[in-house]
Amino acid sequence: MIEIRNLEKSFGANKVLQGINLKIPDGKTMVIIGESGCGKSVLLKHIIGIMKPDGGQILVDNINVFDLNIKQLNKLRLKFGMVFQASALFDSLTIKENVGFSLYEHTDVKQEEISKRIKESLNMVGLSGIESKMPAEISGGMKKRVALARAIIMNPEIILYDEPTVGIDPIRSGSINNLIKRLHGELNVTSLVVTHDMQSAYYVADRIAMMYKGKIIEEGTPSEIKKSDNPIVQQFVNGVSNE
Ligand SMILES: Nc1ncnc2c1ncn2[C@@H]1O[C@H](COP(=O)(O)OP(=O)(O)O)[C@@H](O)[C@H]1O
Ligand SMILES: [Mg+2]
Repeated sequence: MIEIRNLEKSFGANKVLQGINLKIPDGKTMVIIGESGCGKSVLLKHIIGIMKPDGGQILVDNINVFDLNIKQLNKLRLKFGMVFQASALFDSLTIKENVGFSLYEHTDVKQEEISKRIKESLNMVGLSGIESKMPAEISGGMKKRVALARAIIMNPEIILYDEPTVGIDPIRSGSINNLIKRLHGELNVTSLVVTHDMQSAYYVADRIAMMYKGKIIEEGTPSEIKKSDNPIVQQFVNGVSNE
């Protein structure tokens, strides 16, 4: 389980996280919603330990991420698969090299086995036969899938998605949402999805938490969120989108 306790982070006078409290149960899909700029990506960066907080803790299986040294942190990171906001593929590497990157760089798994796992991961996200292509040769939606294949190849326990459907058309968003849901079931993982897209949130979430002004102001099942009597939540979920 991931437990976030009183997490605080400011950048100068910009108080981004002002005491975030949230529990993400094992095996569930938690979706964090909130308007653009409210600190969702900053929160994710704390969870994988690439940002340090001003206060508070994040416990992953009862270990505080911020107590770890670099070596321990790298070990912990193996539990996570991360799909970043921009797919962040390496432009000069082929799809095959992108997907297999962590295996090539951080393990001594044999070439043959790596090739097999690359193929399996690409198949899982509905792609095949594109191993030798370069990122510039494939569409935005395909890049997201490749980024996902790269995350799942390491058999993560937890998959973090930062705005997985941003910048792609509704049909492709739908298929990414299907994929998130299907992989969640097939891989038996805990998923944490950050988004400001309510359609996507309702579709993939077991639970939804809303961030506002540095805090979690509401948390519950999708139907509880829909029925929330908090006017800020209501305004957000009823599609008065700011983008
Ligand atoms: N490395 C950084 N240095 C300074 N300010 C930052 C940094 N990263 C994020 N911020 C600020 O933190 C706030 C939250 O950003 P972010 O988490 O990216 O928002 P969201 O993902 O919800 O759209 C923004 O005001 C942003 O400018
Ligand atoms: Mg963001």
